[in-house]
Amino acid sequence: MELPLDYKYKLESLLEGYSLKTLKECALKISKNYQNGFVGENHIKDDLSAKVYAVMRYPATFKAFSKALEDSLRYFDGEIKSIIDVGAGSGAATLACALNIKLVKATLLEIEQSMIDIGKFLFEDERVQYQKIDITKDLFEEHVDMVISSYVLNELDDVGRLNCLNKMWDMADKMILIVEPGTPKGSALIKQVRDYYISLGGHVLAPCPHMNACNYDWCHFSTRVARSKLHKDLKGGDAPYEDEKFSYIAISKEPCSKCSSRVLRHPLINSGFVDLEVCTQEGIKKIKITKKDKEKFKAARKANCGDEI
Ligand SMILES: C[S@@+](CC[C@H](N)C(=O)[O-])C[C@H]1O[C@@H](n2cnc3c(N)ncnc32)[C@H](O)[C@@H]1O
Repeated sequence: MELPLDYKYKLESLLEGYSLKTLKECALKISKNYQNGFVGENHIKDDLSAKVYAVMRYPATFKAFSKALEDSLRYFDGEIKSIIDVGAGSGAATLACALNIKLVKATLLEIEQSMIDIGKFLFEDERVQYQKIDITKDLFEEHVDMVISSYVLNELDDVGRLNCLNKMWDMADKMILIVEPGTPKGSALIKQVRDYYISLGGHVLAPCPHMNACNYDWCHFSTRVARSKLHKDLKGGDAPYEDEKFSYIAISKEPCSKCSSRVLRHPLINSGFVDLEVCTQEGIKKIKITKKDKEKFKAARKANCGDEI
């Protein structure tokens, strides 16, 4: 799901009145901070950075989280009505939930006031409430159906992250969904989280078709996000879209169904056959689907990385 237009307009209105030079300098500073920054350090500390960050990242975060959510809910039997968004920022992941499920209540936990202000401006929705807290330290005891986090865990140090994961586990009655960047580091972090929650008794909903040890070293998916003119001005480049890579894990507190096999890499399409790398209930396999298997061949030709097949 693309970010709805009214949110795009509202987001970009945040930057009205600033010169393009100021905005570009700020965008460059944020990118540098993310490239060089240390784990455990928050990179967005002032109002303008928070606004620029939101315009640069909100559409892609929203779309990646929406995709992970759609693919996870396909295997979830229950109903999700309440969520907690941990390190919510300006609320892109919460918006993805609000547009995909019958949400009654969302609590967004966030430490930076500038992020909270943008989230409140974008939402104007009484179902959505912010709490200004440090998710690695402060006590927060609400229980909800689903606890989510999006692009946050990689910013925490090891101790903070473990505290945060334990709190997320305690607060979730039914489900946890975590999305991280689709880099080798992000994917490795997701694998650690998967192992940790399985050790606590969690059940993997998605993307994995099994709960055995995972020996795949870069499990990530990708979604194409349209770019606005302002986005191109801030981040550079002319491409009309960017491919957002993400890794994710969805955990259910109850036993759940799973997909039978999932495409891991973009299919290699030949004239009479398609080569696919898939994760199955028996582990990773390379399979060849020939024209003879008409229906499967058609599906395989159209398959995207992350699809069930
Ligand atoms: C990369 S941003 C992601 C924001 C949002 N989840 C999204 O996907 O758009 C990371 C967010 O985590 C927040 N954060 C980092 N450490 C935190 C902490 N200890 N407690 C609460 N929020 C934290 C930051 O302020 C920032 O808003």
